[in-house]
Amino acid sequence: MKIGHTNEETLKKLWEPAAVRKLGRQLADIATAALTSKGGPVRKPHSEKLAAKIIQRATKKPDLAGLVREVQKASLSLSHPRYGAQQVAAPIPAAALVESVVAAMNQSLAVWEMSPIATAIDRDLMMRFKKLLGYPRTAEGSLVPGGAFANLTALLAARDALEPRASKSGNARIALVVGAQAHYSVARAAAILGLGRDSVFKVPLNQEFCTDVERVHDVFAAARRSGFHKFILIGSAGSTPTGSFDDLVALGQVATKYRAWFHVDAAHGAGLAFSHRFRKRLRGISRADSITFDPHKMMFMPLSAGGVLVRNGAYLTQPLQEQAPYLFGSKREWPDIGQVTIACSQRFDALKTWLVWRAYGGQLWDTLTTHVCDVAEVAFQYCSQSEILEPVHEPHSNIFCFRLRRSHGRESDLRHWAIKEELNESGFGYISSTVLNGRRVLRLVVMNPRTAASDIRAILRRVEQIATARQIRA
Ligand SMILES: Cc1ncc(COP(=O)(O)O)c(C=O)c1O
Repeated sequence: MKIGHTNEETLKKLWEPAAVRKLGRQLADIATAALTSKGGPVRKPHSEKLAAKIIQRATKKPDLAGLVREVQKASLSLSHPRYGAQQVAAPIPAAALVESVVAAMNQSLAVWEMSPIATAIDRDLMMRFKKLLGYPRTAEGSLVPGGAFANLTALLAARDALEPRASKSGNARIALVVGAQAHYSVARAAAILGLGRDSVFKVPLNQEFCTDVERVHDVFAAARRSGFHKFILIGSAGSTPTGSFDDLVALGQVATKYRAWFHVDAAHGAGLAFSHRFRKRLRGISRADSITFDPHKMMFMPLSAGGVLVRNGAYLTQPLQEQAPYLFGSKREWPDIGQVTIACSQRFDALKTWLVWRAYGGQLWDTLTTHVCDVAEVAFQYCSQSEILEPVHEPHSNIFCFRLRRSHGRESDLRHWAIKEELNESGFGYISSTVLNGRRVLRLVVMNPRTAASDIRAILRRVEQIATARQIRA
C-alpha cells in the first residue's frame, strides 16, 4: 500500500498536525470504549475464527482507525464488570490514556541526557514506593516490565550479595527456599542466573495456602543435606493461585536465623499497602532485603508496570555496573537508570503511576483495592451458602477459588475445566481455574474496580446453572 507518491507527500500525510489530531481523536474514542464500556459479551464467541478474519481483512483495509476499532470490539473486555479471570487489571482511565503521550514523547530512561524530566519523575515515584513499603531512602530500585523481571532482578542482587564473585565467575551455589505456591518466575530466574532449577526447595503450604512456617526449617535442613550453605528465602505477599499472604514477620525471623537473603514477592499484593483495612497483610515486608511489586496488578495500571526494590541499594547497583562510554559516565545529581535496571531502552512507565498518585492521592487505591477484596469476600459468602458450590479457602485478598460440592476425582477436573470454558465462551462472565491440592478448581480474580457484588453473584449463579445443566445432560 502506497502512502504518498513522493517522500515529501508521505511525510506530510503521516506528520501533518491536522491529520495526526484527527487520528488521535479517533483512537481516543476507541480507547474510551475499551475503558468504559460495560455491555456486550466479555469475550465474543468463536474468538479464534474472529481473529483469523480480522488478520485476513487487514491487508485490504486502509482505514487505520477502523481497523483498530475492529480489534478493540473483538478483544476480551477487561472493563466488563463480569470479567474476573486473571491478575490483569481493568486500567484506571487516566493511566491508560496517558500511554499515548508516553509513546509520543518516547523518552528512554537509560541515561539522564535522554530523559531529563522523566528521570526525575521516575526517581520521585521510586521514593514514594520506598516510603509506602517502609524502606530507607538509600534503598535502590527501578520499574521493570513486570513481576517476573522484578523477581529476576531481585534474585540477581541476592545472588551477588551472597556470592560476591558470582557475576564474574558465573559460579554460585545458593538454595532458594520458597513456598510451594511461588510464581514460576522464581524457578525461571534461578535457571537464568545459573543457580539452576534444582536449587529451588519448596515448602509445603498450610490450610490457608500460605508457606507453612512450621515446615520451613525441614526444608532448610534438606537443602543443607544437599550441600547448600547459602540461602534465599522467598515469601509471597499475594500468591498467584489463591492471593494468600505469607506470615512475613515469621519468615523474616527464619531468614535471620539462617542468614538468608529475604525476598518478598509482592507482585500481586503490594497495592494493599494503600488499604487501611488490608495493609496488615503486608506486616513485616519492610524487613525484606528485596521486594517485587506490580502497579499493573492491584494498582490497576495498564501493562506494563512492575517494580523492584533492594533495601541495600549497593547490592543492586554492583551487578548492574556496565562500561558503555556512549551512555554512562556523567557525574550528575540524577542517576542513569540504565545502571540500576536490566533494560537498556527503559520506557517511561513511571508517568502513568506517578500521575495517578499525584492527581488522586493514595486514597484512590485505598478505595479501589479495598473494594476488590470486599467483592471477593462476597463470592466466599455466596459459595459458603450455595448447595452446588463450595469455597476452597477464605480469601485474603481479591483472589478466590471455589469448586463443586460433591464432585471428586479425575472426573471433577474435567467438569471444572468444562464449566469455565462454557461460561467464558458464553460471554456472560469470565473466570479462570487452577489446581489446588492436586485437583482442578475454579478461580475468580477481581481486577475491575467497577465489578459490584451483584456482578459476582450473577457469575456464580450462572456457574451453578451451567453445572446443573451439564449434570442433567450427562
Ligand atoms: C506472585 C506473582 N509474582 C510474579 C508474577 C509475574 O508477574 P508479571 O506477570 O507482571 O511478570 C505474578 C503474576 O501473576 C505473580 O502473581
